[in-house]
Amino acid sequence: MPHAAAPVVTIDGPSGAGKGTVSRGLAKRLGWHLLDSGALYRVAALAGQRAGLAANDQDGHAVLAATLKIVFSAHPDGSEQILLDGQDVTRAIRSEEAGAGASRVATWPALRQALMARQHAFARPPGLVADGRDMGTVVFPGAALKIFLVASPEERAQRRYNQLKGKDSGVSLAALSREIEARDRQDSTRPVSPLVRAEDAIVVDSTRLGIAEVVEAIWRLGAQRGLWQG
Ligand code: C5P
Repeated sequence: MPHAAAPVVTIDGPSGAGKGTVSRGLAKRLGWHLLDSGALYRVAALAGQRAGLAANDQDGHAVLAATLKIVFSAHPDGSEQILLDGQDVTRAIRSEEAGAGASRVATWPALRQALMARQHAFARPPGLVADGRDMGTVVFPGAALKIFLVASPEERAQRRYNQLKGKDSGVSLAALSREIEARDRQDSTRPVSPLVRAEDAIVVDSTRLGIAEVVEAIWRLGAQRGLWQG
């Protein structure tokens, strides 16, 4: 396995369950690398659009995805920055439209395969926290700890709304609920790498928990398994 050199914790689940924030918090606490795999799908969709590819050009998108020049870096203030061909796309990929575009290209097997090696390359010592939909089932099936993070649909829509307020003007809570529901359906019912819980994943429900409490719960699970010292 190309990623056996470093321990991997996978955090999968539906949109808005808090995967991104929790994964970042856990990676920071451990001093491990972080893979935001959703960002790769978002960038792939955006790159296709910018290159003028037809929306249904699966092969063109896959070729593009295999050669994308993406850089994940941190601003001096610690916030995340994502560059595509040297251009800052951090904000552009976070809109609901970009999320829907990502969900569409994510149904294409050739594109998913094109992103595989790039995802494996994130697994480097001392370890990796990988956030996505198929991290525990397909990309890192041998992960040392697999979490399936869930929250009620109402809570997820509300969190997404709070996140987007001010960034994506014109979003409404009702519209977001519908979009999240549509994206969940598309992600869970697609034939390739659907959003499903890995058999050996532990379900963590974040509906009534704060970020720090969820990170703490996962930390304890890892310590129990001897992945790190509690
Ligand atoms: O996690 P995020 O909302 O950024 O993901 C955007 C979309 O990318 C998801 O709705 C999903 O369709 C797709 N995705 C995926 N597999 C992953 C991560 C994201 O199919 N590992």
